[in-house]
Formats: sequence, structure tokens, C-alpha cells
Amino acid sequence: MCGIVGYSGDKMATDIILDSLIRLEYRGYDSVGVAIVNHDIVVYKEKGQVSQLRDLVPSIDGYTGIGHTRWATCGVPSSENAHPFKSMDGRIALVHNGIIENYLDLRKELSAQGYEFSSQTDTEVLVHLVHRYMDGDLHMALRRALQDVRGTYAIAAVEFGSDRIVVARKENPLVIGVGMGENFIASDVTAILEHTSDVIYVMDGETAVISPEEIHLFSPEGQEIKREVNRITWTSEDAKKEGFEHFMLKEIFEQPKTVRDTLVCYLDGLEASDILPPVSPSSVTIVACGTSYHAGMVGKYAIEELANIPVTVELGSEFRYSSGTDNKPLVILITQSGETADTLAACREARRRGCHTLAVTNVLGSTITREADSVIMTKAGPEISVAATKTYTAQLVSLYLIALKLALNRGAIDEMGLRELKAQLRSLPTLIERVLDRADSLQDAVEVMSRAQHAFFIGRNINFPSMLEGALKLKEISYIHAEGYAAGELKHGPLALLDPDTPLVAACLRDHTYEKMISNVTEVAARGSPVLIVASDGDEQVHLLTDHVIFVPRCPPLLSPVPLAVLLQLLAYHVAKAKGMPIDKPRNLAKSVTVE
Ligand code: M6R
Repeated sequence: MCGIVGYSGDKMATDIILDSLIRLEYRGYDSVGVAIVNHDIVVYKEKGQVSQLRDLVPSIDGYTGIGHTRWATCGVPSSENAHPFKSMDGRIALVHNGIIENYLDLRKELSAQGYEFSSQTDTEVLVHLVHRYMDGDLHMALRRALQDVRGTYAIAAVEFGSDRIVVARKENPLVIGVGMGENFIASDVTAILEHTSDVIYVMDGETAVISPEEIHLFSPEGQEIKREVNRITWTSEDAKKEGFEHFMLKEIFEQPKTVRDTLVCYLDGLEASDILPPVSPSSVTIVACGTSYHAGMVGKYAIEELANIPVTVELGSEFRYSSGTDNKPLVILITQSGETADTLAACREARRRGCHTLAVTNVLGSTITREADSVIMTKAGPEISVAATKTYTAQLVSLYLIALKLALNRGAIDEMGLRELKAQLRSLPTLIERVLDRADSLQDAVEVMSRAQHAFFIGRNINFPSMLEGALKLKEISYIHAEGYAAGELKHGPLALLDPDTPLVAACLRDHTYEKMISNVTEVAARGSPVLIVASDGDEQVHLLTDHVIFVPRCPPLLSPVPLAVLLQLLAYHVAKAKGMPIDKPRNLAKSVTVE
């Protein structure tokens, strides 16, 4: 995955492009480049992050340009493989996000025609192809070139002597930012929020030509089309650190607000709302990847408990291998970015099977919002840190709401139950605040975990997925090998790996799983592993088992994954910080994964 930006206007393009690229680094940051249209097309590109390139780029007198931050998929991170790529005559420069599947065939064909390649990338074939078809009109040349291409892309190209940027999109995000006497393009609105809140979404198969005063959008067939301008309510402040050391910490601390915002949107009018299809499904399938998959697992317990409907949870990348369903269930696709390739592929497959698809996403205008039959928007605001935090808890809230609505539709909940659950949901922001208030009490746990190379996380029932998520959070930002298990599974194999250097984190909350959890923990403690118990406030009994206890506020078991998630996010954050890790941009990971 990569990030692309472009600017054409009355200001110097270089700084605008570099600043915007910094906001896209969550999409990839192993190499970076800019192309500015000047008396020539000037290209600067380098291995590394935007800040490194900024030191090298002189002030360039140019008002039109494109930029790219790369996350290597085809060819190692290097300045040669960094974008933009220039045509051999130097008159065209191009950046690309996506994958050209038939690039080896195209490369062979173009080489035979005398085109020389300086990189290992799939993208370089694009610039030569465009050059091959160039007959005075860059837009026509790009459209023609794309007829030869198999794959996915968001592309931006500039040409010498012109203030126009030509773009194309297929299965990779692309927005046009609308300004006064200036226009922008970007992979994501957060990159350009500083300059404009007005955007036009480019849809699959479409192309566009942007200049300082004009925007022309074209259908896949090449007809000019009109599209409404969308006003984004996120502000540029939302995408800044605001004094926090890392975006991840800022985003963890935003959760009382983001959970409240998500609730406010749907809770009051839930009975009359049409967030779900009118049909009452006999089964539900939830599909997602990574953290969103863990949210889906929590959703399974919530829907089964409240609505009494059987739920299957599938990984986005595995859904296509599952057998088709006869009874056409409701398929819920959870993806904060709305761009995860595996989840999008599952959405298409579910629709092909005749299922109703409901997307839960955080990004307005993202691909899933256009492809699913209906959409629930989480209100988490832009999440910049690669590790998902506030989007996860907003997803949990959305799933509780879906469970509640399904229960209402089936008459599985009475008025009193509904009132009680709504009140409990409304108390979630306060519960989260109480977890955040005690962040300092994690010191001892942070010390235990920071010393470890391996760790296990266990829980039962609705907090089994909570512990999978706790382990994922720890491993992705601290690089400690962490595994989550259903507590009952420990004795079926993993117990062999526990030793005095391998801590176990156990969710022993005061619910119906408590006694069994305590038995599982006792087994581990007897083997000398450090045990870190997450216990309900006031449960002093757990001190008999271990010296390492972190308390969470008591709350109804069904909702306990929310405060527990916040606590485990804080734990992972502080362990990673103690180890001096690059928290917001963990190695090898990118924020949204647009390849399958
Ligand atoms: O955008 P999505 O929710 O579809 O992303 C899915 C996963 O890539 C994502 O949740 C990933 O696991 C998180 N960054 C982990 O913190």
C-alpha cells in the first residue's frame, strides 16, 4: 500500500506535497518521491521517510506536482524503486498505488520496443505505456494504456509544460480536493484537510483531469460526468498529535468521545432506524481482518446473546474458500479503512452469493461504502497510528447496536431490557475515562512485559477475542511475540511453552467465567510463569495468586470488552514505549492493506 498526492494551483507545490505526504505515511513509509513541473519535470526520490527527502529537496519553482510515499510490494525499498517514474524523454511523470498483475509481460513487450527500465517495480511499465500511447493528450494516453493493464491502481500523472494532473482509479482510494484557484488529489482526505474540506470521490474505473481552475471527471466509458462535492466534517486538527507523544496515545485517549459519538448517532432512534435490512436473518456471518476480525468475534457473542441468532465469523482472506450459504444470511463486513482488499473481495463474493451485505466502516466514501448494500459509519474520526485503537472500540459499539436492533426486530428483548441496555451503553464513555485515569497503575505490568520475549494472553467467552486483540496490539508495536488463546485451550498444547520468562496475561473478571479462569491461572502459576491478572475493581482475592494485578472498572459482562480493550491498548503502548519502538509506524505494517 502507498499514498499519493498531487497539487495544481497558485502556490509552490513542493511544500504542499511534502506536508500532505507526511499525513499519508501511515499508508507506507519505506521510500518517498516528488515530481514538480518546472522548466523540466524535476524528480527527487529517496529511500526512507518524507522527513529525509525534505532535507534533500531544494526550493523548486513549480506550481504543479505529484508525490508518493511507498510501501514496497514489487521491488525492494530503494531510491531506484521509489516513485515518481519519468518517461524516457522526461516529459511525463507518474505515481501509482496498487499492483499491475501483468507487468512482467508488459515489461518484456516494452523492452522489445526499446524502452529501458531502471527499477524492479510494476509501476515503471505504466509510465512507458502512457508514453507509448502519448499523442498530445495525456488523459487519452493514460486511458489507452490502462486498456493493456490487468491489476489495481490509483494513478496520478503530470506532463511537461502543463498544469494538469491526470488521475485514474481502480480498487485503490483516490479523492479530489476542491479549492479556490487550486485543486488537490490524494489517497485519503486526511492528507489535504489542511487546505480544503470539499472533496469529490473518484470511483472505480473513472479518470479525471485536474488543473487549478477546473476538474473534469470521466466515466469508465470516457463520458464526462458530474459528481457532487462532499463536505468532510473531520478537521485538520483531528489528524494532528495535539501534544501527545504519539498518535496511538492520542487516539487511545479520544475513546470516551469516539464511543459517545458513535452511540449518539444511532442509539436514540434505534427502534425506528433502518440501519438493518427489514428481513430478519436466520443466521449472520461476520467477515473482517486483523483487529476488525476480533471486533467481529466480540460481535458474535453479543448477537447470539441478545438476538439469539447463530453467528459465524470468518477472516476476509478465507471467506472465498467457505461453502456458499443456502439461506442467504446477513453478511456484516467490518473494516475501519473500508479499503482492505480481502474484506472487499469477501463483500463482492457475499453479494454474488445473494447475501445482504452490511458494512461497518470509519471512512466515508471508502470503497466498501459504495459496494455494500448498507453501511453503518463508526464515528472514530481519522485514525493515523497503524495500530487500531479507537476504531476498534467504535466497531464494538456498532456491533452492540446491531445486536440490539436484531433483537428488537425478532422481539427477543422487552422494553425493560432495552432501556437497561441502552443505559449501560451510555455509561461506556465514563467507564473508558475511568480506565484512562488509572494509566499510571500499569507501571508494574509494563516492567514485567517489557522483559519478555514471548507472552500469552487468555480469556473466555466474550473476552476470548479481547485477549486475541490484546496480544495483537502488543506484538505489532512492541515486537514481543504474543499469542492469544481461549483459556481452556492452554492445556491442549501451549502450556508446554510457559516458563519463568514467559508472562501470561489473564482476564479474570467477575463474571460467569471467573472460577474457570482462576483454575487456568493457578495451573500456570504453578509452573513458575509470571502471571498478570486483569481483575474487576475490588477483587482482592486475586492477590493470592499473583503480585501483578491490574484492575478494570466493573461493568456488565457483555460490555466488558470495551474497558478491557482500552486497558490492553495502554499496556501495549507503554511496553512499546519502554522498549523505544516506533509506535505509530511499526516495521513491515501499513494502515490499510489494499493487496490480497
Ligand atoms: O481497515 P481494516 O479494519 O479492514 O484493517 C484490518 C486490519 O489490517 C487491521 O485491523 C490491523 O490488524 C490493525 N492495524 C491492527 O492494529
